[in-house]
Formats: sequence, C-alpha cells, structure tokens
Amino acid sequence: MSLNRRQFAAAPLGLLLPALASAAPANTSGEIPSLAEAFGSRMRFGSAVTAEQVRDPKLAAFIARQFSILVAENAMKPQSLSRGEGRYDFSDADTIADFAHQQGLPLRGHTLVWHNQTAAWMFTENGAEVSRATLIARMERYIADVVGHFRGRVLSWDVVNEAFVFGEAGVETDGDGMRMSPWRRIIGPEFIEIAFRAAAKADPHALLFYNDYESQAPQKVAAIRKMAQGLRAKGVRIDGIGHQMHCARAWPPVADVAAAIDAIAADGLKQHVTELDIALNDQVTGTTVKAATEELLKAQAQRYSELMTLFMSRRDKVSAVLVWGIGDAHSWLLNWPRARFEAPLLFDAQLKPKPAYYAVLEAANASAHAAP
Ligand code: G3I
Repeated sequence: MSLNRRQFAAAPLGLLLPALASAAPANTSGEIPSLAEAFGSRMRFGSAVTAEQVRDPKLAAFIARQFSILVAENAMKPQSLSRGEGRYDFSDADTIADFAHQQGLPLRGHTLVWHNQTAAWMFTENGAEVSRATLIARMERYIADVVGHFRGRVLSWDVVNEAFVFGEAGVETDGDGMRMSPWRRIIGPEFIEIAFRAAAKADPHALLFYNDYESQAPQKVAAIRKMAQGLRAKGVRIDGIGHQMHCARAWPPVADVAAAIDAIAADGLKQHVTELDIALNDQVTGTTVKAATEELLKAQAQRYSELMTLFMSRRDKVSAVLVWGIGDAHSWLLNWPRARFEAPLLFDAQLKPKPAYYAVLEAANASAHAAP
C-alpha cells in the first residue's frame, strides 16, 4: 500500500498499521516523531536524496515521513542528465521527481549551470574549445530542455551554482571574485544573466535561485547581492538565494549567517538553506576525527540547535531548510577531500536518530511558541 502525505494523515488507524509496519527501515524506530510534522507549515524541512534511496520502499517511506521538501543530490546535474547535445537520460531524475510529486513534496532542482559535474561535450567543438556563440546556444538549449522536462514538478531551480569564490588557493577568479570556470571564461560574466533568462523562459512558475557555499562570508554576500541587484536592474528574474551551509562545529559564526540572511532579505529575495550538514572534523580539509564520540555528537547537536533556532527565528526570510543527505552512511564528506571518517547528518548509518536529530526536533517544536 502506498499512501501520500494527505492520505496518510486522513487514513483510519487500521489502514495505517500495515503501512507503518512496512515503513520502518531496518534498525529505525517507526515511533520517532516526523520532522516534517514537527515543523508543520512553519518551515519546509528536507533532504538531498538519490534515486536508489527512493526506489527502496523502506527508505522511501522513511524519507516521506521525515521530510517535507526534497532535492536530488546528483541526479539532476548536467553530468547525470546529459548524453550529448539534445540527448538526455532522465531516468534517475524522473524517479525522484515522480516520487516527490506522488508524495506531495516540493522538489528543488539542482543544478543547471555549475563548473563541476557538468557535461564535458558542452565545452568542445570540432576538437577545439567551443566558441562563445555556440556555448551560449548550447546552454540555452540545455536549460530549455531540462527545465521544460520538469515543468510543474520543480518548486525552485538552482540556476547557477558557486559562481563566486574568494580566497581559495589555486582557484582563478576575475576582478569581481567570479570563478574562471569555462562558463565565465568563454562567455564572460553575463553567462549568469543568460542562464537566468533561459530558465525564466522555460518555466515561468518555478522559482529561480542562485546557490553557493560560504554564502555568509561578507565578501561573498556582497558579490551575490550585487549580482542579483544587477540582474533585477536589467529586468532579469531572480527569486532567491540558496545558502548551502556546509558547516563545521565551530564555523561559520552564527552572527555572520544571521547578517547574511538579513542583508539578502532586505533586497527582497527569498532564501533557502539548501545543503546543511555539520562536519565533526574541525576543518573541512581535516581528517583528525576517527569516531563519533558522545562529546562530539553533543557538540554537533548544539550546532544544529543554534543554526536551526536562527533559521526558525528568521522563517519570514528563510522558507526551506534541507540537509545534504538522510543519514551518515551516505555523505559527500566521507569522500571529500579524501576518504575519511565523518558523521555530519541527523541520522546515523543505520538511520537511527542522533542527538542532532533531537536538537532539530526541539528547535521545530520550540518555534511553535515563538514568532519569527
Ligand atoms: O557516478 C560515478 C560512478 O559511476 C563512479 O563509479 C564513482 C567512482 O568515484 O563516482 C561516481 O560519481 C561520483 C558522484 O558523486 C556520484 O556519486 C563522483 O565521483 C563524486 O565526485 C560525486 O560527488 C558529488 C559532488 O557534489 C561532486 O562535486 C557528491 O555526491 C555530492 O554530494 C556533491 O554535492 C555538492 C553540491 O552539488 C553543490 N554543493 C557542494 C556539494 C558537496 O560537494
């Protein structure tokens, strides 16, 4: 039996019992409260997922119970979708989009234009680097095809991802802090405007976001705001900013995150927290932590609490928060920058709730009694 969220809420208990029994993933209590329900209409709370996860009935039930918004971790990136000019493999992405649609869960579309996980063919032509005009035409076609394919199933698109970078060794930028990606180098800084125009044309109803990491850092906040203001001054639609929020226990300062949210909200832009996780290792490049000790898990929970309390206090400005993975068995941090121990999410490798889960649950419940 498969029930969507609305049917689930309305179903008599006798009908639900078999569904609940099959919904409990191995080693996971079906009894723990649903984060989606705890946040209710006060915040969309979600996760990145893979097609493999949503094809597994137990994991699918877990995801549908705990989360109220989804994003594909990799399945909607150009590298996953594109098979050459005008050729696509939408199978994994459609699995996720159809699941979200059936469950009544909004879906974030991630991502259209990025320097990473892109489609290699886009940048070459007759064995040489592609011309500016051809690259623009290819980008426009890719966006029209992909956004068109998912029209009606995507709440918001990360139209451009990670275009700015400040102070990263070995990363070349232009004078405005824009990353010298192939997009920027071949097309020029206006690649952002071209991408947003194409996305707006392909789906007038999907929200159009710019998404980045370290988006609380003052220099990056300034660059993002300038870019968004520039687009709007030209009449180009940009609806919101995504804060990835890949955090460590002591970084970034909560005050910086608060200031960034307030500054971006002052420009009238919507905001989502798009990829939240909190590494146990002190630095993103560190590999010193070897196990999830009680002390570390407590400190991590405290960080989730501080951040979620902040987001809930600004829920008039931030309308969705998504973690970057459902449990510690599967996180990009296990393999980046090299294989290491990490446990950055709310559920452990067996999907048992961690102190971090209870911290988030508490922040959700507390927000019921506090105005934004
Ligand atoms: O699909 C191939 C598989 O065929 C191959 O056998 C295997 C061997 O390495 O690699 C697989 O690809 C991996 C891919 O994830 C799918 O699992 C890549 O190596 C791996 O680099 C890739 O990592 C992803 C990363 O983006 C790439 O930059 C992570 O899963 C994904 O979580 C991460 O997500 C990004 C966001 O999109 C943007 N913000 C930062 C965030 C974390 O890096």
